[in-house]
Amino acid sequence: MSTSENKIVELAHYRPTDFVLERVDLTFEIDPTNTKVDARLIFHRRDGVDAAAPLVLDGDELTLSGLLLDQNEVPASQYTATAQSLTIRDLPESGPFEITVTTFINPQANSQLMGLYRTNGIYCTQCEAEGFRRITYFPDRPDVLAPYTITIIADKAANPLLLSNGNYLGGGNYDEGRHFAAWFDPHPKPSYLFALVAGDLGVVEDSFTTMSGRDVALKIYVEHGKEPRAAFAMDALKRSMKWDEERFGREYDLDIFMVVAVSDFNMGAMENKGLNVFNDKYVLADPDTATDQDYANIEAIIAHEYFHNWTGNRITCRDWFQLSLKEGLTVYRDHEFSADMRSRPVKRIAEVRHLKSEQFPEDAGPLAHPVRPTKYREINNFYTTTIYEKGSEVIRMIATLLGADDFKKGLDLYFERHDGDAATVEDFVKCFEDATGRDLSQFSLWYHQAGTPLVTASGAYDATTATFTLSLEQMVPATPGQPSKEPMHIPLSFALILADGTVATATGVTGGEVTGEVLHLTERNQTFTFTGIASRPVLSLNRSFSAPINLHLDQSPDDLAHIARHDPDLFARWQALTDLALPSLIQATRDLQDGKTVETPSALITALIETADDESLEPAFRAQVLTLPSEADIARELGRNNDPDAIHAGRTSVLAAIAEAGVSTFQSLFQTMRPDGAFSPDAQDAGKRALRNIALSYLTYAEQSPAPVAEAFSDADNMTDLLQALTLLAHRFPDSGETEGALGAFLTRFDANPLVIDKWFAVQATIPGAATLDRVNALMNDPHFTPGNPNRVRALVGSFAFSNPTGFNRADGAGYRFLASQILQIDPKNPQLAARLLTSMRSWRSLEPQRADHARSALLTIDRSATLSNDVRDIVERMLK
Ligand code: ARG
Ligand code: ZN
Repeated sequence: MSTSENKIVELAHYRPTDFVLERVDLTFEIDPTNTKVDARLIFHRRDGVDAAAPLVLDGDELTLSGLLLDQNEVPASQYTATAQSLTIRDLPESGPFEITVTTFINPQANSQLMGLYRTNGIYCTQCEAEGFRRITYFPDRPDVLAPYTITIIADKAANPLLLSNGNYLGGGNYDEGRHFAAWFDPHPKPSYLFALVAGDLGVVEDSFTTMSGRDVALKIYVEHGKEPRAAFAMDALKRSMKWDEERFGREYDLDIFMVVAVSDFNMGAMENKGLNVFNDKYVLADPDTATDQDYANIEAIIAHEYFHNWTGNRITCRDWFQLSLKEGLTVYRDHEFSADMRSRPVKRIAEVRHLKSEQFPEDAGPLAHPVRPTKYREINNFYTTTIYEKGSEVIRMIATLLGADDFKKGLDLYFERHDGDAATVEDFVKCFEDATGRDLSQFSLWYHQAGTPLVTASGAYDATTATFTLSLEQMVPATPGQPSKEPMHIPLSFALILADGTVATATGVTGGEVTGEVLHLTERNQTFTFTGIASRPVLSLNRSFSAPINLHLDQSPDDLAHIARHDPDLFARWQALTDLALPSLIQATRDLQDGKTVETPSALITALIETADDESLEPAFRAQVLTLPSEADIARELGRNNDPDAIHAGRTSVLAAIAEAGVSTFQSLFQTMRPDGAFSPDAQDAGKRALRNIALSYLTYAEQSPAPVAEAFSDADNMTDLLQALTLLAHRFPDSGETEGALGAFLTRFDANPLVIDKWFAVQATIPGAATLDRVNALMNDPHFTPGNPNRVRALVGSFAFSNPTGFNRADGAGYRFLASQILQIDPKNPQLAARLLTSMRSWRSLEPQRADHARSALLTIDRSATLSNDVRDIVERMLK
């Protein structure tokens, strides 16, 4: 991180270290402002390395306090120490030697939340990607693996709990009211997976018996008094462990698995070996304080971090260019887990919405980069939706290309061949090639070419020859550093749906490879001809979103409605309804800009209300269909010259037309769609709540009165319903007495629960319209707003910048100026958080000229600062390029 050295790291420069690390033995003497770290490291010179080569260790803001070589003090002439590195010369030519490094660090003053820091009195670490070098001088890179022994000494009263990776060795009392604990992790690991936790926490305990009959102790540590809110996370953990055994044959490999929830955390969670550290937002839940979305997130993130034990820890990354090797694969695994725990098509719809709203804009803007990048300036800026979500889609495509059985063969080979390795994306792909004999070289372009491919398709039916012809063209747009692209291997799942709703089976196909229901598009232009199609079919293409592409397929509203009614793939039905809705939303935006009145096509209205009424469809699916493309989706579709106010107004008028036509449907859904019995966070009940709540949202457009929503707010007996009512009040009737009352009541009730107060901040920060900036500014002075806490900042500043298109993109540019001043204030304390917030402006070039000008000025204000972190410097320069 931090200091703004203009150093680019390049994949092409990768080479292994000169010295091999054999063992790590760390002793921590915990102190709030002066923690002593003794690191004993055993190395030997790698075979063939020049005897004169020095040992160079990484540091970040460190001061060296002691240095021994084989227990003898090293003379000053033999080493050079700076804050960023420690270089030791004249080391033995062969055989192992021991280096002992002593540093003192200040956890209390560590506001970056990287390395060892203190949060709410708890000491904890975050070492990925390069935080370990803030603890001690070390070869801090993922291809240096060793077993670790850890001793922690701390004041016993303040820190009864002393945790690290691996298995507990023992502990006891020490001098002056202190005690110690020792841990040993037998699995060689890179430093980014190191963790230490010390403090006073409550615990929830359980156990799991693995497939080979070993007992594993499970412990989730949370603040005292919050133990009951960890029950769901524990249940999700046990289900994850079981699922990974059944689905992928992966068994846990230590005697204990621990999760610690902390309140100050830069990201979601971290998969440290045997000791996951979590943002408490993704652990704590009960019906009064967590929404259905919170429950789903907790389940997914608990699973994600647990799954990293194999995809990330047992097999790690050779270098940070390979980040998607662990992240893409682990996201794929957690998606599959959630799909098995919940409704597969509904889960897929949610994933694709997320991919399109977060990753597609990244891939279409100045921050676009390949899934396997070749250079970076600040690795923390590469924890992106491209690495995670597109990386997962690439693996999903491998599964689609190969089929389930061959995919499993390839993955089994990967686990077998690379267990214990620091591997590369190429190693991974090669396992699928070796296991199946399939050539994936063209497919690998998905890792190397950035940008969302555009596929243009058109179908034609010829009754005289009973053939259906599908012409496809692919184009991958230019992205930073990649002006021209090669054609990709794009797996397109498809069906030809006949008039009676059945799926046609062709007698033959020419023009390219087809395996089962998958077309393999490999050329720039390619035409597939299907024979033996007795009557005109409707083409359903890219079903289940088999490839992460933009698809241009001109289909009539009738054909889309046909897919929406008949496709056996529910995802395809949702996609068809979305494709039906988008042109109307775009037309509405244009009509309003041209001063015309908006006419919402009755075909769209009918299709939506028909779906809402269809009791054969699961409620969660119906809720997804009724949730129209967002303002951001419309902006992305428009692509350029965007006016967020017009988009908002256009979308609002379409919603109003649907609401008016469907008022009786929405009323009855609101009245009847309630789960029976006691609260359950399961997918079925959550689906009912989602459908009921979207019905209520339409009613606010039909009835134009806050009264029914205020009543729903009073009646709510769980956080999902309560928050939806609060959101509708605030967003639809911001100036009403009902809204003021509800915001006040909510604050009073949840005053002591910061995670819930975050929802209160976010609801207000996302009220549409220019007036919200003043409200956000006022909320910055609310005593609940603690600016050092990333969750608070994301709830207020982040929600405003990322999720309030009309408020943030105020025509006068005040939203951008606000964000710029926030970035400059946050950056010196927490550069990672500042850089992340700044990415909210990544689509600034697609705004209309006046707003784009204001956005550029705000970016230039940041750019002109002389003291930017490397993190923010990297983002702002790429955005202005
Ligand atoms: N490996 C973690 C996860 O995805 C993310 C940690 C990223 N941390 C960071 N400071 N960049 O589960
Ligand atoms: Zn991860």
